[in-house]
Order: sequence, then structure tokens, then C-alpha cells
Amino acid sequence: MPTFKLDGREIAFEKGETVIQAAHRAGIDIPHYCWHPGLSVAANCRMCLIEVMPPPGRPAMMLNVLAYDQRTGEYIDQQKPKLQPACQQVVSEGLEIKSESSKHVEKARAAVQEFLLLNHPVDCPICDQAGECRLQDYWLEHQHTGKRMRDEPVHKPKAEVFGPTIVYDAERCIVCTRCVRFSEEIALDPVLSVRERGNVNEIVVAPGRELDHDYTLMTEHVCPVGALTSKDFRFKARVWFLRTARTVCQNCATGCNAYMDYDPRNNTAYRHRPRENPEVNKYWMCDQGMLDYRRVHEDRLLDASIGGETVKVGTALDRAAETLRGVDPSKLAVLLSGQHSMEDNFAMLELATKHLGVTQVFATGRPAGKSDTILKHSDKNSNTAGVLQVAAPRKPLNFTALTSAIQSGTVTHVVAIGSGIEDDALAPTLRKLKGLVVIGTWNSPLSQAAHVVLPASSWAETDGLFINAKGMVQESEQAIEPLGQSRPAWKLAAAIGVRLGAPVPFKSLDELRSALSGTSPKSKRPLQSGAAQ
Ligand code: SF4
Ligand code: SF4
Ligand code: FES
Repeated sequence: MPTFKLDGREIAFEKGETVIQAAHRAGIDIPHYCWHPGLSVAANCRMCLIEVMPPPGRPAMMLNVLAYDQRTGEYIDQQKPKLQPACQQVVSEGLEIKSESSKHVEKARAAVQEFLLLNHPVDCPICDQAGECRLQDYWLEHQHTGKRMRDEPVHKPKAEVFGPTIVYDAERCIVCTRCVRFSEEIALDPVLSVRERGNVNEIVVAPGRELDHDYTLMTEHVCPVGALTSKDFRFKARVWFLRTARTVCQNCATGCNAYMDYDPRNNTAYRHRPRENPEVNKYWMCDQGMLDYRRVHEDRLLDASIGGETVKVGTALDRAAETLRGVDPSKLAVLLSGQHSMEDNFAMLELATKHLGVTQVFATGRPAGKSDTILKHSDKNSNTAGVLQVAAPRKPLNFTALTSAIQSGTVTHVVAIGSGIEDDALAPTLRKLKGLVVIGTWNSPLSQAAHVVLPASSWAETDGLFINAKGMVQESEQAIEPLGQSRPAWKLAAAIGVRLGAPVPFKSLDELRSALSGTSPKSKRPLQSGAAQ
């Protein structure tokens, strides 16, 4: 691979790469606002300026400048190297670049930083970006001086509602155009643009439109300052109190890699944001996925119940075992779920097929929904492929087939995992069952029809493996502690097995995963965890 020198260090690069791209890949940060690895180059913030050293024997490209002489009070003619934006400068073999090691670059970055803050309001204490704002970080790293301007700053619109999810503060905006480029290039909806020039310019929404495409929250995510804020997250939490888990979005079969930010002090999830994975979601997530973290706390089944009456989990486990004990295996069915992890489905299938002798295997999940060519998949379940793999070589039938089997009396008892079903209109058939045991996370037609309900932890409360539509095995990490009386579904399935006098083949997640990989060779494929952004 060809190399160039950055501050004396040899850096490998690929043909066509810019200085900032090659440095980024080598783990070297060149300060930047407008550059984003997933967007086109705008080169408008000038924070990434670098000094390109001339080839031996060639003069450097210089600029004539006027310098102020403090001693005489006169302006004097001077020259300085013409600095280049690292986000636009393409690398070539043997090029020598100075970034941290150049006095000119140091001065230029401080000047750019001071310039960007000239009209910036001092509202960090009430700004949602505080703690993760580049203006704050780079002030500390590259400026370190107080404000010299004594004039009234330029005032612009504040708290302007751009659409159902985003609020804009033009005074905080540095007009880097990341949000404009994201909407046009990734969301494929050029709904934002820049109005005016100089220090009165601002971002505007196209006339007659709102910022309402399916990826609006990504504009807030790419905004390097606090100009775009999400209505969902505004004023809810200070980021320095939040901790982060590497999760997988559960809202569709794409399986976007995500970070879940949560506050361990109140055991609450506060947001989902994308985790870079070039093979799955690159740097992005859709709005539905970013807001899906709310399901962790919404409409949850947090208690066990028998016939609708709340009971202790132990009591419900006893009743679940009684309900299933001695049932004719030919009349008993298991219902798996594309909303649950490989581990949960595997444990349920082990219980049903090995310990209860079940041969009728069904699988369900949430109904199909909207898809697009960007990320969104029409399958609104995170693990449909995982269920098929766990069940192989059996081919699970769908929920419609289960209702037909119930109608015809072929199935009289069901042990089920999950909450969503393909079609809620089919749910009344479940009432015909003589016994329905449900291990579920959310209140649903399944739990409402169940004789015994056991509360399962959501994906945010336990580690789990999921297979996305591309067949990639991905791990989602636990963020918060299990809510209410809930427990991981695989533990509840194993506990029913114990009560039925069946030996439990796995006592820990590791043992369960070993058993799982033994039965399903593809799950040995490396986990796709995605690098941190
Ligand atoms: S709103 Fe944010 S992302 Fe958009 S131009 Fe302003 S600073 Fe950049
Ligand atoms: S595309 Fe699917 S997996 Fe990705 S964020 Fe949206 S809902 Fe989640
Ligand atoms: S990052 Fe803005 S000019 Fe290069």
C-alpha cells in the first residue's frame, strides 16, 4: 500500500483517499465539523486545515498577508503558507503533511474556532449537545482564549420547529451543511437548504414542506453542534450521566447496529443512535429504529399472571408446568418468535421438542410494514432468519397455520414465546385453546389470551444473538437491569423444564450459546459488532 507522511508518521492510504480519510482510518483525528465519512465533501468549515509541504526543490505555495505589529501599531507585509483543507486534499505517494506539528496550522485552527464562536450564544448550560459538542471540545483543544468581540452578536431564529421530530436553533448553527447533505444524499429528500450568506445565513426547510422524511433524526445526529435537537431527547438527560451499550435495533430485519444510551441511576433507556457497521447500516438508522428504544419502557409485561391475576413468577412457573404436564404431545404446539433472540428461541424449542415431545412448530412476529431502498426492511422482526436457523431442519409454519390447527382441534395446547403476531384479527382463535402459556415482553393479543403469562426481559435487559436479513449473526448487549419481575425468556423456559423434571442442559448464557452453536453451524460465524464512530 502506498504511504504518505503525517506529522512525521508513515500512513498507508488507498488511491483517491483524502488526508482526513486516511488519517481517520489510521485512528488519527484531524479536527473537523463539516466532514463526515458518509457524506460528500463540502470543505466549508476550514477546521481541518493542514500544511502541505512542497516537494524537495520546489517552493511552497505562499499567501501574502498583513500582520499587525503590536510594538509599532503598524501593519506589515508578511507571507504564510497556504493551508489546505484535509477533507479535500487528496493524498499521493510520498506527500508530507503537517497537522499537529505546524505552528501555522495551530494558529489557523484557533482562528477558525474563534470565528465560529463570534456570534454563538453562550447557552451551553441549557443546550442538549453540551458534553458531546465539537464547539466545546475544540475550544478546549485548539482555542483556549476568551471572546474578543464586544459587539452585539447577530441574532437569528431560535427553537424553530422543522417538523415532527426536529427543532432548529439558527444561532447555534455553524452552517456546516451536514444536515442538508444528509437529507439530499442519504435520505434522498433535498428538503433542507442554506439561505443567505455570511453571518446571517441559516438552514431552512423547503417552502411548503416540513422536515418529515423517514430519517429526520439522523440530521440531529450528524449536526456537530447543538443547532438541531431531537424533540424526543430535548431536555430529558445530560449526556455525562448516561452509559452506553452496543445493541442491535429490533424494529426490522435489517438489524442496524446501535448504541443504547441509558442512565444506570434510574435504570432508564434514553436514546438509540447508530453504531458504524459498513456491512449493515454504515453510519445511519431510520427514525422508527432510533425511537424504538422507547418500547423498552412502553406497554411492558412486568408481572407474571394466571388467568389475568398477578402472581409471583415462581407461582406462574408452577402453573405453566401443570398446564403442560401430561398433554398429548400430538396436540401440543410451540410458537417461536422473530422478535426474540436465538437463545430465547433455542431454549423454548429445546423445552418443547426434547422435554414435551412437541412436533408441531410454528413461528410468528410483528406484521410486515414499510420498506425502502435505504435501510428499512418490510419484515419488522429482528430475528426471523435466526428462528429459521434455530428450528432447522424443521420449517416452522406461520400463525395463520396455527389458527387453522386450533380451529380443527389438531392443536389444543400451545407454549409460546413473544408478543407480536402477524395478524391481530386472528387472535380470537387463541381463546379456543385449553392451555396457552406465553413468555412475552409486551402486552399483546397473545398475552391477553394466555392462561399463564411469564414476563420476559426486553433486548435492552439481556445479551442476545440475532440474525439479520443478510444472514449476519449480530450480538446485542445488555444495557439496563431487567424491569419489574421480568427475566430473560431462555431462563423462564429452562425453569419450566426444571419443574417438568427435565434435566436443564444449560445453566448460563455461555453454556446455552455452546449448545446453540452445536446445533446450528452458521451461528459460528464471527459476530458483527461494528467499530465505534
Ligand atoms: S444545523 Fe447543524 S448540521 Fe445543519 S448546518 Fe447547522 S451546524 Fe451543520
Ligand atoms: S432500518 Fe430497521 S434495523 Fe435499521 S434503524 Fe430502521 S428499523 Fe432499525
Ligand atoms: S472538515 Fe470542514 S473544511 Fe474540512
